[in-house]
Amino acid sequence: MNEIVSYAVLPDEAGAIAVITIDNPPVNAAGHAVREGLVKAAKAFADDPSAKVAVVVGAGRTFIAGADIKEFGKPLQPPSLPEVTNMLEALDKPTVCAIHGTALGGGLETALCCHYRVAVKSARVGLPEVHLGLLPGSGGTQRLPRLVGIEAATDIITSGRHVSAPEALKLGIVDANDDGDDPLAAGIAFARRVLAENLPVRRTSEMNEKIEAVRGNTKLFDELRAAVKKKAKGQISPLTCLEAIIDSTELPFMKGMAREREYFMELLNTPQREAMIHAFFADREVGKVPELKTGHARPLDGAAVIGGGTMGAGITVSMLFAGMPVTMVERDEESAQRGRQNVERILDDGVKRGKFDQAHRDHLANKLYSVSSDIASIASADIVIEAAFENMDIKKDLFRQIDQHAKAGAVLASNTSYLNINEIASATKRPQDVLGLHFFSPAHVMRLLEIVVADKTHADVAATGFALAKKLKKVGVRAGVCDGFIGNRILERYLSLASFMVEDGTSPYDIDKAVLNFGYPMGPNQMGDLAGLDIGMANRKRKRAEGWKGRYASDYMDRIGELGRFGQKTGRGFYIYENGSRIGKPDPEVLEIIDQVRAEKGITPKPLNEEEIMRRYMAAMINEGARVVEEGIALRPLDVDITMLYGYGFPRWRGGPLKYADMVGLDTILADIRSFQSEDPEFWKPAQLLIDLVDRGENFDTLNKKANF
Ligand code: 3HC
Repeated sequence: MNEIVSYAVLPDEAGAIAVITIDNPPVNAAGHAVREGLVKAAKAFADDPSAKVAVVVGAGRTFIAGADIKEFGKPLQPPSLPEVTNMLEALDKPTVCAIHGTALGGGLETALCCHYRVAVKSARVGLPEVHLGLLPGSGGTQRLPRLVGIEAATDIITSGRHVSAPEALKLGIVDANDDGDDPLAAGIAFARRVLAENLPVRRTSEMNEKIEAVRGNTKLFDELRAAVKKKAKGQISPLTCLEAIIDSTELPFMKGMAREREYFMELLNTPQREAMIHAFFADREVGKVPELKTGHARPLDGAAVIGGGTMGAGITVSMLFAGMPVTMVERDEESAQRGRQNVERILDDGVKRGKFDQAHRDHLANKLYSVSSDIASIASADIVIEAAFENMDIKKDLFRQIDQHAKAGAVLASNTSYLNINEIASATKRPQDVLGLHFFSPAHVMRLLEIVVADKTHADVAATGFALAKKLKKVGVRAGVCDGFIGNRILERYLSLASFMVEDGTSPYDIDKAVLNFGYPMGPNQMGDLAGLDIGMANRKRKRAEGWKGRYASDYMDRIGELGRFGQKTGRGFYIYENGSRIGKPDPEVLEIIDQVRAEKGITPKPLNEEEIMRRYMAAMINEGARVVEEGIALRPLDVDITMLYGYGFPRWRGGPLKYADMVGLDTILADIRSFQSEDPEFWKPAQLLIDLVDRGENFDTLNKKANF
């Protein structure tokens, strides 16, 4: 047909079974050549008098994983995928789709146009377009509801989740599961059944029973709308997906298809689509770092974690989940037992939430995990992760001991949020084996892992950091050494800004509201209450003792803290948390404290509106993000985006702060920063990289594209 889609007939069935194979590595994306090839192959099947049934199968590791995302935003080269899939469905001889790997997006839509579907047990199917800011645009919103009903279709399409083969069978998305792992064999076996039982052509588009059952059920539609809106958190596409699904119940099939196409084109042209596709590719690019070209990951068969506090326990559990044996080391028997309790509490919670059963919990707690109060127990570990208190002297002392007991070649990691890894490494005789691993709390849940490569870190050790991230199903981001690495360094800037804005006249509650409306799950003051205001207080004290100079706008925060109001854990911080509630109410006393501080400093309050708040908030984040890239702390702008998406709640549908900056326009951002300079020249000094990019007419994406690691 062409080199990518082939058509053949099986010799031993007298040519009755044809096989259409899509071979477009790595994931058989349905790009132009695949679409064209499918049309030709379908015609060949239609015109082949001996062929009675066709098997449609993917070569390599997967069935079609979707439309070719790289083609979005470029002019469409016909035929379009809906044309191709409709043509497949219209064939008047039966087709069997054999699914392995993943049939996603346009891949599942192709499968839904075949008349029968068989999936090997390990296969997964789904319509994940919502994660790209899109909707299924080749009939997914019209055919899936016809197969599974609108409630299941809404769940699958608006969540974009992957559905396992057994669940797909239960729901009726596939007709059979095959126990083997060879999709071609599974497809041929099903095709023989079609021949033997004389199974007819069966078109999904003609199955109207399930959608007719809910036609006009506005109560159900409104319930679904409310539920989807709540989960969407500012993202448009889940709601558009739902409207298309509802349309499937109202409109005749072809009209529904036309409506789906209109929605698809609308979404294709949104900034959310651009942002989410940026995030999709950034997810894949971020793991490409220079050390992976030269370095080889060392084994990761067993680990030791030093420290059994919140971080140590979370890190331990994250490794246990990945099947790694972990020895936790604490300074004495009592602390070791406390560490064990912390780990077991997380595991028990997993059982309570139904994530795994008691037997699995016991296996993790008793077979894979052990505690010790003797540092010599780290001797056999491939990786030692120190997760002790955030204090340089303590860490250096521990690394001296680790150096004495860890085996040769072991990777020695410090879990730190701010501290200088070069200095920590200097406490050992093997700085080449030392790196930073900045886990985020709770470490068994949060997906970000900053992998801090110090001056002397060997490429093999950095590569092991990335291998660990993969093993723990985390997103590893390479960071250089500086106070706060990528994420906390940027966080520090916009949190400082938030306190400046409060001191200058804006209510902390208005700031939280603006940030929430932007798409964050919470505002900076709500985050402070959650993390504990005592942490920031201690940090400010440390920095001031180290001679930190700069505008100090946190007096009001110190005063709140001095009242013992540390946030959620004390029932009061910026907000009041009544009866253990996790949702706070604004506290008039906090506003009084702030007023008092302003009065003492002689500040005439100038409150900012929502737009003014967000322009400053984003400009501060972007300016520091640019500096982080300029100094090589982040390899590329996209590394900053991924850090903020996975570690700091930046809304994915905005792509990350530097993608957001590109979309707003760097000249606009720079002009904003310059206009804020009169308020605070030191804070609002524009990053040189930002100035240079604007001068050259480039943007952050230019740098992403130039980077080739
Ligand atoms: N289009 C173009 N490239 C794709 C692609 C796609 N649909 N899916 C994956 N790729 C690329 C990746 O960018 C990566 O490229 P790289 O090697 O240059 O970095 C390569 O294929 C391998 O992908 P992964 O690294 O992600 O491989 P995994 O094995 O980890 O995961 C996967 C495989 C689960 C298929 C995952 O790639 C995935 O989720 N892909 C996207 C699926 C998707 O969103 N499909 C819907 C597309 S939109 C659509 O179909 C619209 C339609 O309704 C009209």
